[in-house]
Formats: sequence, structure tokens, C-alpha cells
Amino acid sequence: REIHFLSTVDSTNEEVRRRAEQRAPHGSVYVAEQQTRGKGRLGRSWFSAPGTGLYFSLLLYPEKIHSAPSSFTLLAGLAVCRAIRALTNCPAMIKWPNDIVIGPKKICGILAERSLTPLGQAFIALGIGINVNAGVFPDELQKKCSSLFLETGKKQNRAALFLQTLSCLDKLYSQPEAPIADYAALCVTLGREICYSRENQILLGKAIQILPNGELLVLRSDGREEVVSSGEVSVQG
Ligand code: BTN
Repeated sequence: REIHFLSTVDSTNEEVRRRAEQRAPHGSVYVAEQQTRGKGRLGRSWFSAPGTGLYFSLLLYPEKIHSAPSSFTLLAGLAVCRAIRALTNCPAMIKWPNDIVIGPKKICGILAERSLTPLGQAFIALGIGINVNAGVFPDELQKKCSSLFLETGKKQNRAALFLQTLSCLDKLYSQPEAPIADYAALCVTLGREICYSRENQILLGKAIQILPNGELLVLRSDGREEVVSSGEVSVQG
């Protein structure tokens, strides 16, 4: 497989887009020491200082069974969670849809973007950002974010975590069924009252199930069930 190390890039997801246009192979990985325009979900930016984080994206040409971006987010979340647990003793959990948390703090974010090449071939840029050895965050992030270093008191090996995450992801990707039960066992959102937004409305409900494509089934306070596919979700209480 191709693994490309870049010292500085705008965003590794953007690098995937450029390389997909040049028909780079399925499974190629782009890892950057630093991103100048790291992207988060919902148009946010992703703090990507050099030296301490792990920022990488995979280029995937999806087959039908795996075509929704949410199904890639699901696989990546489980892979990162397993890799962190294998290499540290941190109780990493998944906050649906795309955050890896330790306790209340975010350690990793995932951004799966689907687009088409100029020739009309679908591809997914599956981006993963992990706070590995950061000791401080900008003020606005300090309350919500942490790093594996801050959680364990030890500097962690970024290369080992990168390779472990890739190997967990490859294993999950080659399985024919979505690993819903394993995901559910590590998901802090399930069974909780959540607040989510839809078409500018704020709604309340209980997160009751993860669907095979990574979507969330919610039981609304009016008794109706609703499928939530992305967007802003917060766990209550
Ligand atoms: C989020 O939690 O909002 C998603 C953050 C995703 C960040 C990663 S870092 C590697 C890849 N390149 C990007 O520009 N974003 C993703």
C-alpha cells in the first residue's frame, strides 16, 4: 500500500481529493506532520499544530455496501478506539457519530467526505485527527479536548498508533458485515437522552440503536422513531 508522509499540507482530506483526481490507488494514505487548513465537521477547522498530533486520510473507492460516508465514520471510530485501547490503558469510547472521547474530553475527530473524480468515480476521503502528545490547547479548546499524553502522563508513539489504527481499519474494512455490536459496546451515546438539530429545530430524544450504515435511530419525545444521519448531537446530563 502507498503511505505518503507530508511535512505540511493544507488538509490531508484535500490531498486525497487531489490524488483521487490523479487516480491514486485505493487504500492510499496521506499523513501530515502539520496542516495549515485542517478541516473539522460542519465547516469547522481542526487544530493541527506540528509535532504532537496525528493527522491522516485514506483514499477509498467505495463498493456499494459501503457507500455512505457514515459507514466509514463508523469503521474509523471503532478502529481508533481499539488502537488507543491496545496501546494505552485509556478507556477510549465513541461519541456518535465521529468523536473519540476519554471521559468528557475529545481525543480524536473523524471526517469522511464523499465526492466524485472528474471521470465520475466516487471516492471517500476518510480523515482522522488524533490528539496524541499535545500538552496544551488553545483556550477555546482546552475545556473540551485532551490528548493521550494528558490522559496517561506519558508521551505516546505516534507511528505505533498510526500503524495500529491502519491495521484495525483494514481488518474491519475486509469484514462483510458492519461491526455494529462492537461499535455499540463502545458508544457512549446509546441509551442516552440526546439533543440534536434538524432543519434548524432542536429536538430531544433517546438514542436507541446504531444502524448498519452508521446512522442513529432516535426515539423522540413524541414517541416517534427517527433516523439521524449526522449533524450536531449532544448527550444530556
Ligand atoms: C471533527 O471532529 O470535526 C473532525 C475532525 C477531522 C480532522 C482530521 S485531521 C486529518 C484530516 N484532514 C482534515 O483536514 N481533517 C481530518
